[in-house]
Amino acid sequence: MALRQLNALGRHLALAGFMGSGKTTAGEAVAARLGRRFVDLDREVEARAGAAIAELFSTRGEAAFRQVEEAVALDVLSGGEPVVVALGGGAVLSEQTRQHLASRAFTVLLDVEPEVAWQRVGGTERPLAQAEDAFHALHRDRQPLYEAVADAHAPDVDGIVLASAGVHVEVGAIDELGELVPGDGSVALVADRHVSGIHGIRAQVALGARDVEQHEVPTGEAAKTPAVLERLWTALRIGRDGTLVALGGGSTTDVVGFAAATHMRGVPWTAVPTSLVGQVDAGIGGKTAIDLPGAKNAVGAFHWPVRVVCDPSLLTTLPEEERLNGLAEVVKTGLLAGRPLWELPEPEQVRACATFKAGVCLQDPRDRGPRNQLNLGHTFAHALEAAAGYALPHGRAVALGLLAALRLSGLPDETRAVEEVLSPERVRVDRDAAWAAVARDKKAERGAPRLVLLDRPGRPRWGVELPEADVRRALEELIA
Ligand SMILES: NC(=O)c1ccc[n+]([C@@H]2O[C@H](COP(=O)([O-])OP(=O)(O)OC[C@H]3O[C@@H](n4cnc5c(N)ncnc54)[C@H](O)[C@@H]3O)[C@@H](O)[C@H]2O)c1
Repeated sequence: MALRQLNALGRHLALAGFMGSGKTTAGEAVAARLGRRFVDLDREVEARAGAAIAELFSTRGEAAFRQVEEAVALDVLSGGEPVVVALGGGAVLSEQTRQHLASRAFTVLLDVEPEVAWQRVGGTERPLAQAEDAFHALHRDRQPLYEAVADAHAPDVDGIVLASAGVHVEVGAIDELGELVPGDGSVALVADRHVSGIHGIRAQVALGARDVEQHEVPTGEAAKTPAVLERLWTALRIGRDGTLVALGGGSTTDVVGFAAATHMRGVPWTAVPTSLVGQVDAGIGGKTAIDLPGAKNAVGAFHWPVRVVCDPSLLTTLPEEERLNGLAEVVKTGLLAGRPLWELPEPEQVRACATFKAGVCLQDPRDRGPRNQLNLGHTFAHALEAAAGYALPHGRAVALGLLAALRLSGLPDETRAVEEVLSPERVRVDRDAAWAAVARDKKAERGAPRLVLLDRPGRPRWGVELPEADVRRALEELIA
């Protein structure tokens, strides 16, 4: 049986929950993150009926209100453009609405304790929030219906965005893999050889009888080759009802995701990123790829993982240099999000960065616009890496690239923050080779580099063309 789609990619995102769970406020914020139109069902009902809900209840009765509510819900859910819709607390009473939710939406239940909900809305103008006992009884009655429509639960805005992308962030989540990998079919576990030796057994134990095959790929970037991919294609035995599970850093999730996109013309996969780069960036968003000689990520596919499981406790075994690579992406994400995410404890850093990347990628799954912002600093970083013959750690290159982007953006405070947190050291590479690589960067058009800059933190601008002399000066400031 085909797996139910467990994300909001290309479908409506519906927020369900009891009165006072905060669906409207959260829905507006989530819609802004996903670049979607927000629809508040109660406001639509009032507009269609030409009366406030309290007035509808008192003049025409609850049944009449429910009829209008159902008609509006079905209209909204039948629309082709995916929206974020906050359902009224009682909208799930309609069986037709529940059916539409099942077939056309990804529904997230916004959890709230009834006592908290009562504090927020008890005694207000809401017709069903007048007496506390009746309010609690209604909550008990409706909970099974909410559970029935819910594809996922979430406590807050970040939780909704993560759930909408199928991303699960939790310390200790690796031990829950058996439940977190969607469905109950067979699993082929593919792990980075080094990571397999450290965390492989835990993953296998958690997957239990579902784990019918285990494979290893070389450690790090060496996994992203046509030869490794061919070996995987030949070795894999799972059928189309099986799931590939990738355990390792971004290199592993990139190659295994591509194997999943192509094995038997595409099977579902779950990413279990084990590096900081993987958890805050590479494992999320459905871009998969391998390298060709001299051309990184030259062949690949968009293939969204059915689930991404980020367990920050796995990072305790990560070598320091790899942590620094990840920290550079955390700083990049913080600059894009407009919050100093690098100051958070690591598990919160992972959750916040994963949320940010998930939101941007849901907004632009095929990399046609907003996703460009994720290249902040990367045009310079790629050029330095190429000029250094890829002997430069990616994190150091990104740190330098961020410096250049911030200097060109005219943001001295943020430039200083990057200097303090990442302490980037200038590199010794050939200046002309680095400049030639800037022009060759795939974001360049007709030889003119197109940059991502910040108007201010949290306000990126992409596709920016600057005078060549300015870009070259910024590049040369990074070179010793
Ligand atoms: N698909 C995307 O959207 C995307 C985004 C960013 C980066 N990437 C790709 O990700 C790759 C870089 O990922 P990366 O930085 O995770 O590198 P990586 O996968 O090469 O791993 C780096 C090293 O860390 C080790 N490691 C990983 N997890 C560990 C753990 N928990 N404990 C001990 N060692 C561990 C690995 O064995 C390896 O030696 C690049 O190929 C890049 O192109 C992809």
